[in-house]
Amino acid sequence: MNRIKLLLILTWLLVLALGYRPVFSLNTCVECHKALDEKNSAIVEDFKKDVHFQRGLSCNSCHGGNPKIGMENPWESMNPDQGFVGVPKTSEVPQFCGRCHSDVEFMRKYNPKLRVDQEQLYKTSVHGKLLRKGDKKVATCISCHGVHKILPVSDPNSPVFDVNVPHTCANCHANTSYMQPYKIPHDQFEKYSQSVHGEILLKNRDRSAPACNDCHGNHGATPPGLGDIASACGECHSNNRDLFDSSPHKQAFKENGFPECATCHDYHLVMKTSDDMLGVGDKTVCSQCHFDSESKPYRTAFQLKAKLDSLKNSIRLAQNLVEKAEKAGVDVAKAKFELNLAKDDVIKIQSLIHSLSLERVAEVATEGMNKAQVVQQSGKEALFDLKLRRIGLGGSAVIILILAFGLYLKIKDLDSRSKLK
Ligand code: HEC
Ligand code: HEC
Ligand code: HEC
Ligand code: HEC
Ligand code: HEC
Ligand code: HEC
Ligand code: HEC
Ligand code: HEC
Ligand code: HEC
Repeated sequence: MNRIKLLLILTWLLVLALGYRPVFSLNTCVECHKALDEKNSAIVEDFKKDVHFQRGLSCNSCHGGNPKIGMENPWESMNPDQGFVGVPKTSEVPQFCGRCHSDVEFMRKYNPKLRVDQEQLYKTSVHGKLLRKGDKKVATCISCHGVHKILPVSDPNSPVFDVNVPHTCANCHANTSYMQPYKIPHDQFEKYSQSVHGEILLKNRDRSAPACNDCHGNHGATPPGLGDIASACGECHSNNRDLFDSSPHKQAFKENGFPECATCHDYHLVMKTSDDMLGVGDKTVCSQCHFDSESKPYRTAFQLKAKLDSLKNSIRLAQNLVEKAEKAGVDVAKAKFELNLAKDDVIKIQSLIHSLSLERVAEVATEGMNKAQVVQQSGKEALFDLKLRRIGLGGSAVIILILAFGLYLKIKDLDSRSKLK
């Protein structure tokens, strides 16, 4: 008896669970639109993948109307008396989505962790401000998220999944004729794709590199102000940001209106760096502003580069010796380890130059040079020992040969004597 009861309860629970899925409950909006025409059946087909459908919402959750009636007469269910609101105009989209997404109480029932500030932030963005002025070409919620196939942002197929973001923004921003009425450039995507960041995100699909929204924000898309660039870059390059902030450039760049990190690295076209950027030659970034050879910045730039170069030279000499010793069969594991420590000091300096502090750079360069010299010394000693041993080995071989020859003569002598007898 108890078993049958349990079975009944389980079946009832199953029906309840399935009943929550709109696919199993008759919904006149879905049923009728599915059969209307190609466009509408495509909407219904797409909608099966939509996060709203997956969470139990349906057509009427957004468009209003009554999904329980009107299978014979469309205008019954799609009647304003039944709460039908129809399709939002472009200018109304943010409020249309925000009706739920800005409602803390409502959203908490589904996902307490989801932010509810999208509409609010959107209003502060360049897109939102222009929309309010009547510009219909800017991005609204559905330009970035799509419609009827809206996916969770963590879904790799979502247009706002970070690897896809640059393409989503490029739909408009790289479209020359679409953006023609505006005074801003259309080259952001082109430059970004060539940058070290774009290379890593788009080609390697490595999500540690920034997509457009990491610097511009998801919803409050505005260019970071000139003074905020270091903090946008500093989200990831915090060490260099702190060094830059502590340097004399911080204040000087602010006064002159130079865009912090972007002054030397650009912002969309951030390229891999090299030591050639540092110093006083034509190719260096420093020479753009410091060309008076009497000035303190010029001299410092020169010396910073000189320190780095001497460390690299010491490392090169040590490296040559280590390679020689290795070829000769000496065990160089320890020397290689120490050499890597000296190479770490080069990397430290490449970052430390953002402080512009000659003292700090000189200190690390000296430490590194000491490490390289220890390796050089031990390399030289190892090679010298080897030589000695070779000389030693050669010497003993000659002595053995001489002895052997002497022995041979002696035996020969004994032999001839015995024959004479
Ligand atoms: C019996 C069929 C039927 C039912 C039921 C039905 N619709 Fe429609 N719906 C139509 C037809 C026909 C159109 C007009 C076709 C077109 O313009 O593509 C339409 C148009 C629409 C439009 C576009 C309106 C516009 O201004 O362009 C929306 C949105 C819509 N329906 C939503 C719903 C929702 C939500 C429900 C359920 C509450 C629903 N429909 C129920 C047949 C139906
Ligand atoms: C998350 C909210 C949301 C849900 C859920 C939703 N829609 Fe829509 N729908 C929109 C928005 C926003 C637009 C306006 C799109 C635009 O302007 O390009 C729209 C447009 C439409 C249109 C007009 C399309 C056109 O190209 O003219 C139809 C028809 C429609 N929806 C039907 C449906 C049906 C049927 C369902 C359920 C299967 C549904 N919608 C579910 C938000 C929603
Ligand atoms: C310019 C493109 C763009 C516009 C316009 C836009 N979004 Fe987003 N949205 C994004 C990006 C990018 C993400 C975040 C992806 C991530 O977290 O990596 C996102 C994330 C979200 C999320 C997930 C929670 C969160 O805040 O991270 C929701 C919900 C959302 N958007 C709703 C909206 C609504 C509602 C609107 C309109 C008021 C809107 N979006 C307008 C690009 C946009
Ligand atoms: C009827 C209320 C309602 C409306 C209107 C609505 N949404 Fe949603 N939306 C939800 C709910 C509920 C979820 C699911 C939240 C969850 O469970 O994570 C959701 C999820 C989302 C997500 C996925 C967030 C994530 O988890 O990554 C995006 C993106 C989104 N909505 C965008 C939109 C856009 C764009 C519009 C307008 C076209 C819109 N929504 C209109 C209620 C709504
Ligand atoms: C539907 C087309 C469209 C999409 C998609 C779009 N934008 Fe825009 N965006 C515009 C238009 C139009 C403007 C207005 C141009 C202006 O500012 O004069 C604009 C302005 C901007 C501005 C302000 C530029 C300035 O200095 O005035 C930024 C920043 C921006 N968008 C970033 C983004 C990012 C990041 C994305 C993707 C997450 C994105 N946009 C997606 C159309 C779009
Ligand atoms: C590493 C950070 C970063 C990334 C990634 C980034 N931007 Fe920018 N973007 C900036 C900075 C900084 C500025 C503004 C510099 C200024 O104010 O002069 C800017 C300016 C803009 C502008 C204003 C016009 C212009 O070109 O100066 C638009 C539009 C824009 N970005 C769109 C995009 C798009 C689209 C992407 C992705 C393809 C993107 N950005 C990626 C940092 C970034
Ligand atoms: C979301 C994180 C993130 C943001 C924001 C970011 N970067 Fe990067 N950046 C990376 C990653 C990851 C790499 C590649 C790994 C590396 O070389 O450190 C990289 C590489 C670089 C490189 C090349 C380093 C080299 O070894 O040659 C430079 C220069 C650079 N970024 C500058 C910037 C500037 C300037 C900004 C702001 C306009 C910025 N980054 C914003 C993550 C970020
Ligand atoms: C005055 C010019 C200048 C400014 C401003 C500047 N950098 Fe650099 N940066 C350089 C030079 C020069 C190098 C190359 C050093 C080398 O390789 O010898 C470099 C190297 C780098 C590297 C690669 C080396 C490393 O540490 O991984 C990164 C990343 C970087 N900079 C990020 C930033 C960020 C972030 C900012 C802003 C907080 C910034 N830079 C500001 C000139 C500058
Ligand atoms: C966009 C212009 C610009 C670039 C590029 C630039 N600087 Fe400067 N730098 C300034 C300004 C402006 C000052 C403050 C006024 C002054 O001392 O000339 C300054 C100050 C300095 C100082 C401080 C001198 C003191 O009085 O203590 C040093 C050191 C310095 N820069 C080194 C460098 C090095 C090294 C580079 C290349 C990696 C570099 N600068 C690139 C503009 C620039």
